[in-house]
Amino acid sequence: MAVEWRRVVALPLTLLVVGNLQLIWGNAAAKVPCFFIFGDSLSDSGNNNGLLTLAKANYLPYGIDFPAGPTGRFTNGRTTVDLIGEHMGLESYIPPFAAARGPQILKGLNYASGSAGILDETGQHVGDRIPMDIQLNNHQTTVLRIGRMLGNETAGHLKRCLYSVYVGSNDYMINYYMPAFYPTSQAYSIEQFTDALIAQYSRQLMRLHSYGARKVVLFGLSPLGCLPILHLSTDKCADNINSALQLFNGRVKSLVDEFNKNLNDAKFIFINTFQIVSENLSALGTKMKKGPCCGVREMFCLPYTVPCTDRNGFAYWDNAHPTEVENKVLAGRAYSAQNPDDTYPMDISHLVEDTSTQPAGGGGSQVAGGEGASTAPPSGDVVEAGQGEGPGGTATTPTAINGWPFGTAAAASTRKLGLKCWGVVLAITYLSSLGV
Ligand SMILES: *[C@@H]1O[C@H](CO)[C@@H](O)[C@H](O)[C@H]1NC(C)=O
Ligand SMILES: *[C@@H]1O[C@H](CO)[C@@H](O)[C@H](O)[C@H]1NC(C)=O
Repeated sequence: MAVEWRRVVALPLTLLVVGNLQLIWGNAAAKVPCFFIFGDSLSDSGNNNGLLTLAKANYLPYGIDFPAGPTGRFTNGRTTVDLIGEHMGLESYIPPFAAARGPQILKGLNYASGSAGILDETGQHVGDRIPMDIQLNNHQTTVLRIGRMLGNETAGHLKRCLYSVYVGSNDYMINYYMPAFYPTSQAYSIEQFTDALIAQYSRQLMRLHSYGARKVVLFGLSPLGCLPILHLSTDKCADNINSALQLFNGRVKSLVDEFNKNLNDAKFIFINTFQIVSENLSALGTKMKKGPCCGVREMFCLPYTVPCTDRNGFAYWDNAHPTEVENKVLAGRAYSAQNPDDTYPMDISHLVEDTSTQPAGGGGSQVAGGEGASTAPPSGDVVEAGQGEGPGGTATTPTAINGWPFGTAAAASTRKLGLKCWGVVLAITYLSSLGV
């Protein structure tokens, strides 16, 4: 993994030498000092490479159009968050948490994990994965480490970062709509299930805020009812799935309003992925082909098969993931909205310039986890994340919010459950790193 990561980092350096940097990354100084990424395979940049799972993409033809080749990205080229990083003028791609070491964590990390969801059990039939609760534990570890590097400058640093959260697809596609493996659709109506998802998601986002996040992008879900895995004809989509996803999207947009009202030191935005991708998919049949572009087994490309050559003419790369050209459409309109309702209440280009998240007298905001940083036991390894009950463990419930609808007891029990699961995932990860 370390080798792959070096290849990713070596790329911008090589380009610099070649003198092509402006073409790829633009010339402007970076808009943010750091970028932290949460989610699933739509954002993963290699976190699943060392896990025991079928959800892997570190083999050809994945990465065929990515300069460093296959890295664990579930597409032919760059992911949406890679492209957003470029729009912001970042000097390199954000490394996966699993491979990042040392001071590079100051510039951000990618915690996303293929097949993961908001719910811990989502995606379990595919194998190991890092669900949102565990991604947040990992981020807490990062914040502790940053605290040891930056001391009392930690909160000031973290609030200038951009945080991307693009999650929920798998809670529907490899949980609710997969009744052979998951009982949720027998137990819950789609409204009840969405309520539960949103309640959990809301607690997770509050945790993210408690770790110092102040500029947060929430991606809505794309029209997954049009995925090639559903084997519908090119101009057809599963309307029941798409309307369920729109129910979720509407609730996420409401969350954005709630957060922005209740957390006056933070700004959350919503990306209308559904609209952006739907508009583009409606060009299918005339111009874009639906796909998949690679030879598939279930969701993923078969290893070492030769994919289609006209990759810019396909919307989907494998049976479940968009091609780079579709990622470009989404990243472009998320960064600079093309239509007024592409983003809400502003696009990423405005969010990164927004100064309302930096109130006068700055440096005052508390960061749970960051505070106890200097007393945290030194440890150089990922295993440190298991100590989540440590210095930062008691301060994850922010106190500044009046009338917040979700009880702190519920948040605490969710947290305990998350930490228990974390122990299990750690053990499995450790065993798999030994090659067991
Ligand atoms: C969809 O995306 C492709 C690739 O960027 C672009 O050429 C096309 O114009 C888009 N179509 C629509 C309807 O947005
Ligand atoms: C951090 O601590 C130093 C030394 O005590 C102080 O000079 C500086 O102003 C502090 N910075 C912040 C952002 O509080």
